[in-house]
Parts: sequence; structure tokens; C-alpha cells
Amino acid sequence: MSCLPAHSRPATTVPTAAVDLVDRPAPGSWLARWLDACADLQELFAHHQLLDAVIQEVSGRRIRVDGRWLTDFASCNYLGLDLDPEVIEAIPGYLQRWGTHPSWSRMLGSPAPYQQIEEHLVELLGAEDTLLLPTLTHIHAAVIPILADQGTIFVDARAHKTIYDGCVVARAHGASLHRFAHHDPEALERLLRRHTRSPRLVCMDGVNSMTGNPPDLPAFAALARDHDALLYLDDAHGFGVIGQRARDEPSPYGRRGNGVVRHLGESYDHVILTAGFSKAYSSLLAFIAGPTPLKRLLKVAAPPYLYSGPSPIASLASALVGLQLNEARGDELRAVLHARTRRVLDHLDKLGAATLNTSGFPIIEVPLADPQDLPRAGRFLLDHGIYATLAFYPGVPRQEVGFRLQLTAANTDTEVTDLLAVLDQLADTVPLRPRHP
Ligand SMILES: Cc1ncc(COP(=O)(O)O)c(C=O)c1O
Repeated sequence: MSCLPAHSRPATTVPTAAVDLVDRPAPGSWLARWLDACADLQELFAHHQLLDAVIQEVSGRRIRVDGRWLTDFASCNYLGLDLDPEVIEAIPGYLQRWGTHPSWSRMLGSPAPYQQIEEHLVELLGAEDTLLLPTLTHIHAAVIPILADQGTIFVDARAHKTIYDGCVVARAHGASLHRFAHHDPEALERLLRRHTRSPRLVCMDGVNSMTGNPPDLPAFAALARDHDALLYLDDAHGFGVIGQRARDEPSPYGRRGNGVVRHLGESYDHVILTAGFSKAYSSLLAFIAGPTPLKRLLKVAAPPYLYSGPSPIASLASALVGLQLNEARGDELRAVLHARTRRVLDHLDKLGAATLNTSGFPIIEVPLADPQDLPRAGRFLLDHGIYATLAFYPGVPRQEVGFRLQLTAANTDTEVTDLLAVLDQLADTVPLRPRHP
């Protein structure tokens, strides 16, 4: 620590955070290092309307950005419930009854729809119990440190960033943290044999948010059971989209949209499922499903239950009505979603273009032959009326840089036909990574 009075220290030796933020960041400063790490995304932000866009208007799955109408293939509203008249018309009744926002933390009190949703979820998932919190980000940050305690966490190398951040909080509380190769049960098993301090927690996505693929759940669940570990899953992209298999299922997505555990015929033995309503159900709400004693523990130990503001009433209403609608016509919507997705996947196959998607689920990442072409590909899509998610480095590995298309039941068949025509033209202009190099 300097013994000079603050006013007599030379300014150049006091590179404070504030100095960096108001002036140009000095080379080598903390801010310059951050900006450097995010340089690819910064460049895209500066020049690309597919990122950080202001959406001026919405009409079905058409959106107006900077005065131009585009078709939205970046929406995670898989069932199209964000636009469903039945959901929209039900919300004002809930607002009249409950006001716009409960404001109490859940520890103080929860409006009745919370309990109704939790009970509905128990039946839908076939889990012992469920607990609602506003977002998955809250859940991972709060629940992973509780479950890991001073033990050991094993995290899939491609787990969602919010899971990883929850693991880092747990490490700060005394847990040790180990990464294993993506979807590789053998790599996990080696780590489980080597690191035995309990409790042990294995964390991963259900349906992966970038590849669209699920893990080999029976293999991972068996490992968890054999090694007395808990398998902690984030099925943000599977819940509402895939569900239990049945002989009379209207699509290979299965029935009821009750998530990856039911879809792959697994049980909740040594398995904790988390998922959110913010994708398929178009609502700001998330849940954890597990044993009742865990729910009791989280009610007294999880900070978001004790201290965070709750989900707005409109979100509780859209989740509750969405769940009812799911029972009535969810399978129909999923059959439409599957058919639209299949058209895109089959077309990429015909084009000889690679995609990470091997599952047939509605997240389709299309890598470019040359990662440097990303701004050009993005501009081409935009100029041809397509709004897609750019998959940039370091969000994805360099060899997977490209764009991600998501389908929803609200995308029309005509919109998909137009997309396929644009993909044909794009492939002639910006080389896509070939399926068989
Ligand atoms: C796999 C996954 N987990 C978690 C999240 C974050 O969810 P939430 O908005 O509920 O915090 C996302 C959001 O995109 C996600 O894709």
C-alpha cells in the first residue's frame, strides 16, 4: 500500500476501474483485457443488426428491425404460446385478481397460482415434488452450491454458462470442480473414481442449447447411481418440446412435453431436473424437480426463495394457462414443430451441409466452412429477410462458428419454404461446412 497521500500520487500509477471506464482503456488494463477477450463479439455488435437489435414490432413470427421486416428463426418460444390468443386473453383476469406483481419474496408468501403450477408439474413430470423460482439462472446459482456443499462437482465441458457459474459459486463455498469431455460417460467415470469427496454432483444440460442434442441419459444416470452421485440436469430446451414415448405418439418428440428424463425413459432416482418456462412456455418462471425433503431444504436455504422478487403475475398466468393448453393441444403443436424442423434438417442434408443436430429437435446449428465468414453470412441472412442467432467465438468453439436456426410451432410452412430458398443461395455465396469433409 502506498504511503503517499492520494493527491500527490502520480495519476499513471493509479489505474483504477473508474479511470478505465471514463477514458480510453489503457493497453493491458483490466478493461482492455475484457474487451480483448470479447473482441469477436464486439466487432459483430458494432457492425451487425442481427445482434443487440431493437425489435420495433412483432407480427406472428415476423419482426421489424430498423424498419425492415424479417422472419424470426431465433425464437425459443417453441410452442408458439407467446402469440396464442387463449394465453393472451387469460392474462387480464389474473391481473385483475392479483395485481401486476406480488412483490413478496416467496418466503413471505406466494399467490395461489404458484401452488397450482407446482402441483401440475408434479403430475406432468412424474417427479416427487417441484419448486418454482423466477429463472434457471437463480436456480443454478443457489441450488448447485447447496447440493455440492464441500464435496465434488463434475461438470460437462459444454454445460450452459449459467450452470458453470453456479458451479463456480459452489467452488467458492468449498466444493472442488472438475470438467469432463462433453457427453462422454467414460471421461466422467474416470473422474468419479479419482475424486471421491462427497456429496458428489454431476451437472449438465438436458437438450443442449447449442447442438440440440440430449446426452446418453441412461448411461449418465447409471453412473450417478453406481457412484452415489446426483445427476443435475438443465432441460431448458427439452421441457415442453420432448416427452414420454408412446405407440400412438403424433411425432417422435413423444407426448406431453414432459422433458428429457421422461423422453429417454429414465427415472428421477439420483436425478434432479431443472427447467424453465422461458422457452417452450414463453414465461419468466423456472422449476427444480426432486424429492420433497430437498424442497423443504431449499425453502430455508436458497437465497432466491428467501430474498428475490418473484415472477410477475402475467408470467404465472401464462405458465398456468400454458400448462392447461399443453394438455389440450400440446402434442398437436409439437407435431407441427417436428414437421417444420424436419424440413430444415432434410434440406441441409440435401445441400450436403453439416449441422451439429443429430436429434431432430428444433435447435439447428449450421457451421460455416470458414469462421471468418461469420459477418458475411449474417449480413446475407439479414439482407434476405432471415433473423437467426449468430454462433460466434468464444460462445462456441472456432470450428463451430456459424448460425443457429430455431423453429417454433408459430413459424408457418411458407416461412420455412422461404428459409430453405435463402439457405440455397447462402450456400452458393458463403461456403457452409460440408457434411462429409
Ligand atoms: C440451457 C439453458 N439454461 C439456462 C438458461 C437461462 O435460463 P433463465 O432465463 O431461466 O435464467 C438458458 C437460456 O437461454 C439456457 O439455454
